[in-house]
Amino acid sequence: MARKPGLATRIWRSVFRTPLTPRTERERKRVVLNHLVLHMRPVRLPERTVAFRHTFGLGGMAAALVLMLILTGVLLMFVYEPTPERAYGSIQALRRDVRFGGLVRNVHHWSANLLVIITFLHLLRTFFTGAFHGARQFNWVIGTLLLLVVLAANFTGYLLPWDQLSYWAITIVTAMLGYVPAIGDGLRQLARGGSEIGSATLINFYTFHTTVFPVTLVTLMAFHFWRVRKAGGVVVPRAYDEPVAEKPDTVLFVPSLLAREFVTALVLVASVLVISVAFDAGLAEPANPGMSPNPAKAPWYFLGLQELLLHFHPTWAVVILPGLALLGLLAIPYLRYDEPMEGPWFLSATGRSLAIAGALAAFALTPLWVLLDEYVTDWSGWLAGLPPGLSEGLVPAVIALGVMWGVVRFAARQHGGNRQEVLQAAFAFVATALVILTIVGVWFRGEGMALTWPWTS
Ligand code: HEM
Repeated sequence: MARKPGLATRIWRSVFRTPLTPRTERERKRVVLNHLVLHMRPVRLPERTVAFRHTFGLGGMAAALVLMLILTGVLLMFVYEPTPERAYGSIQALRRDVRFGGLVRNVHHWSANLLVIITFLHLLRTFFTGAFHGARQFNWVIGTLLLLVVLAANFTGYLLPWDQLSYWAITIVTAMLGYVPAIGDGLRQLARGGSEIGSATLINFYTFHTTVFPVTLVTLMAFHFWRVRKAGGVVVPRAYDEPVAEKPDTVLFVPSLLAREFVTALVLVASVLVISVAFDAGLAEPANPGMSPNPAKAPWYFLGLQELLLHFHPTWAVVILPGLALLGLLAIPYLRYDEPMEGPWFLSATGRSLAIAGALAAFALTPLWVLLDEYVTDWSGWLAGLPPGLSEGLVPAVIALGVMWGVVRFAARQHGGNRQEVLQAAFAFVATALVILTIVGVWFRGEGMALTWPWTS
């Protein structure tokens, strides 16, 4: 008599065993209804899309990090107390008295920081493979919202340890809101829950961090995945000179992609654990509202913005330039293109040359701008008769954007290229400039936010 399969085998089969190709309506329904994993994924998918170097698994990694953040976040909530009197002490107690408490906090901390980086890289991947046309248009918008929520969730979490670092970082970023014309003061008060950072700020941030943003993130992610599915999966990679295949060869999701995703997730979790064991999330002195550290810096992902404040009038640095960047990002799928291109990295050999040219130009010009602005230019002195919004805002901004436009036009004249490829050059310029401004802010700004070498500060 044949042996009855064991419990583990039956669970495995019920989850993963599917008819190889659903042939009847009943089989198709069974595949869709019975298999939790397959709810999110198609049964078959184009063979080329499973290649790791097409997506680098970045979207999946972001999703895995969100999951880790939720798991560790819930554990942290058992110990953390969101009041100015007890918050710092509860983190100390977590690290000192709770078994693996420090490790759980470290995993939460590093996963959150990694999520910002991975989400940014995923954005670059989707942009440079042209994954924002047609059925993917709106998913790009959802992705942009996801990026904003990831930043907001990180930012609200930053305050919770209530140490000097977090207190003053939040003071600086919420003060930036005050530069929004007309409604700035109101916005700053709203973010702080009063005129100063205090218990109202902490409870507001705690509620947003533990409830509002996680729920929004998970909801948007579900929508995002559903849109990927509706678009027929990720864009299909191809060689530069190869036309888009009408009917690409397909493979089964289980095991072809599932196995790769599983391995990627395992490597990611292992890496986060190793980082968390090796590097402590740290805890500075308890928050002291009477004594600001020098330099007082925003969280690292907002240091590009803080760096802009050193070079442009606040309204331009905090509102107009980031606002234009955000609007530009949202508009990308809806611009007019000669022929929408998607698939290979950088879309074509010309696209690759233009993107490299844009990135290299920003790599050279951004530090140059920072140095000139620190030691040479004196906009308000040179244009003494003009209001500061023009002399320190409009004029330098027009020059900076003009330089970028000139570089992109020059590269396009050298290499050729259609609208989408020229857009890639501009995008590569802006993305590289942002990375460099962030690096300057993190490592090259010391006391009084003066330029310094990282090893002397
Ligand atoms: C928490 C943040 C995010 C998560 C968890 C996430 C997750 C994913 C996953 C799993 C995929 C499919 C596989 C892959 O491409 O790796 C995907 C695709 C996509 N994502 Fe995201 N994503 C996030 C943020 C973003 C952002 C910031 C953008 C861009 C603004 C974006 C735009 C897209 C687009 C356009 C696709 C379709 C790609 C294609 O068809 O090739 N996503 N995302």
